[in-house]
Amino acid sequence: MSALLQVEGLAKSYGGVHAVRGVSFALDAGTILALIGPNGAGKSTCFNMLNGQIRPNAGSIKLEGQEIVGLPPRAVWRRGVGRTFQITATFPSMTVRENVQVALLSFHHKLWAMVGYAGAAHRPEADRLLALVGMEAQAERPCGELAYGDLKRLELAIALANNPKLLLMDEPTAGMAPKERVDLMRLTAKIAREKGIGVLFTEHDMDVVFEHADAVMVLNRGELIATGTPEQVRRDPQVRAIYLGEGLLYDAKHREGSAA
Ligand SMILES: Nc1ncnc2c1ncn2[C@@H]1O[C@H](COP(=O)(O)OP(=O)(O)O)[C@@H](O)[C@H]1O
Ligand SMILES: [Mg+2]
Repeated sequence: MSALLQVEGLAKSYGGVHAVRGVSFALDAGTILALIGPNGAGKSTCFNMLNGQIRPNAGSIKLEGQEIVGLPPRAVWRRGVGRTFQITATFPSMTVRENVQVALLSFHHKLWAMVGYAGAAHRPEADRLLALVGMEAQAERPCGELAYGDLKRLELAIALANNPKLLLMDEPTAGMAPKERVDLMRLTAKIAREKGIGVLFTEHDMDVVFEHADAVMVLNRGELIATGTPEQVRRDPQVRAIYLGEGLLYDAKHREGSAA
């Protein structure tokens, strides 16, 4: 059986800057792959090519064997590529449930029904998705009053509304406290494994990466310099050279966390 996602020779330049060059990898259904690397390594550029936002200069992206390079973002989404955003994109005045209902309406080609409000549309399905992420008790609350961690869980429910085969998460836990990060990725990993969804994510917190990823790829200056199990990557001398400089791999202080 072929991989869920097969990427070959992906490249993107901006003027003279090779943001991404010659990136190749495969991702199987139900597995969790982390893409890590220093700031400016090309991670977001990779994600944006995978979801159709940016057209690569070269390379191939196959989803279940079918080429998706050149498709617009909405067509890529339709084929089963879900994503979460670094900045949450919910409607603050609508309730938690209504936000999920809107995503479901969009998936079921009924975006016109958004004019007005989501009403009773897809309510059981919305509640099922909210239960999946542990947000059912907050269904009636306006999104604008949610704590940041809850907003992130809601966002995960919204990303699951189109029944994705592949979930792309560019820094899903940015701005969260360390405990919340671990919880969100634990939840994501559980759902992904249960539903057979492939996940590609990037994350600065190495504890989160090493706990949840089945495999890790390291990007540096646009090129993949290491790929392997978390343990292999953690021991890789080149990776250690890059990350020890930033104090990310073994820094106990980082483990305590200073973010959020
Ligand atoms: N729209 C753009 N125009 C010019 N340069 C860009 C653009 N987007 C990204 N870059 C450059 O490409 C490189 C990779 O950026 P990015 O993919 O955002 O890295 P990361 O997400 O790993 O921090 C950086 O040098 C960045 O400055
Ligand atoms: Mg980025």
